[in-house]
Amino acid sequence: MLKENDSPVKKVTINTLQALKQAGGKFAVLTAYDASFAGVLDQAGVDVILVGDSLGMVIQGHDTTLPVSMDDMVYHAACVARNTRHALLMVDMPFMSYSSIEQALANAARLMREGGAHMVKLEGGHVQLPVVQALTEQGIPVCAHLGLQPQSVHKLGGYRVQGRDQVSADAMLVDAENLQQAGADILLLECVPSLLASEITQNVQIPVIGIGAGPGTDAQVLVLQDILGITPGKPPRFSKNFMQQAGSIHEAVAEYVSAVKQGRFPAAEHGFE
Ligand code: KIV
Repeated sequence: MLKENDSPVKKVTINTLQALKQAGGKFAVLTAYDASFAGVLDQAGVDVILVGDSLGMVIQGHDTTLPVSMDDMVYHAACVARNTRHALLMVDMPFMSYSSIEQALANAARLMREGGAHMVKLEGGHVQLPVVQALTEQGIPVCAHLGLQPQSVHKLGGYRVQGRDQVSADAMLVDAENLQQAGADILLLECVPSLLASEITQNVQIPVIGIGAGPGTDAQVLVLQDILGITPGKPPRFSKNFMQQAGSIHEAVAEYVSAVKQGRFPAAEHGFE
C-alpha cells in the first residue's frame, strides 16, 4: 500500500496529543476497520484512528460488540495499520480479552505485534486499575473508557447515559483520577452529561476524548459510518452526518476534522444534561 518513495509524514504520538491538551488545542478521532478508509482518514488529517469493537455492529451486523473476538480485532487492526502513516492507531480490546492481568498482557501484545496498534483501549473503572497498571508498566499505552461501556450493555440494562446522579458522577471523577494515576495515557468518555465530562477533562492532565459527552473534552470520536450517513439502523443523537454538505468522503472526513479542531463540533445539542 505505502510506496517506497512516499515522502515522510509526521506521525502523531502520545506526546503530540499531550502537548495539544497543554496548549488548549483539540484533536480528531474517527473509527476505521479497513485499509481503504484508513488511507482516507489519514490523508484528511485524523489524529487518532480507532479500530473499535463497534466493528461488531457496523461491519459484522451484530446488535452488540460482545461477539467480537481477538482474531477479529487483530485482523481489522492489521488492515488499517497497513495504510496508516500519520495517525496514531488505537485498537479496542474486545469483550473478556482483559479479565486477568496475564490475559490482558498477552492480548495487548497481539494487538501491537500482529495488529500494529500504538495504543490499546479497554472499558472499565476501578476494576481495571491493576490491568491498566500492568499494561503501562510493560510499555503498552492505554486509553481507559468510562461512562457508557458497550461491553457491559446487558449489565447496564441498555445503552444509557451514565453519571447522571451525584453518586455515579462522583465515582466517575474518582475513577478518572485513579486511572490516570495507574498510568492510563488517554481517557475516553462515552454518553456522559456534558458538565461532568468538562469537569473530568479539567481535573485530569491526560487528554480526554468524548463521544456523546458535549463540547468540553479535549478531543472527539465518532463512528465512521455515522458521519457518512450509512449507520445500520438509527444513528445516535450525538453524531452528525458530514456527508450532507460534502462532495466526497474525503471532504466529509476533512470537514469533521476541522470542525472538531476548531471547536464547531460537537455543539451543545450533541451532548446530554
Ligand atoms: O468501539 C468503538 O468504536 C468505540 C467508540 C464508539 C468510542 O469504542
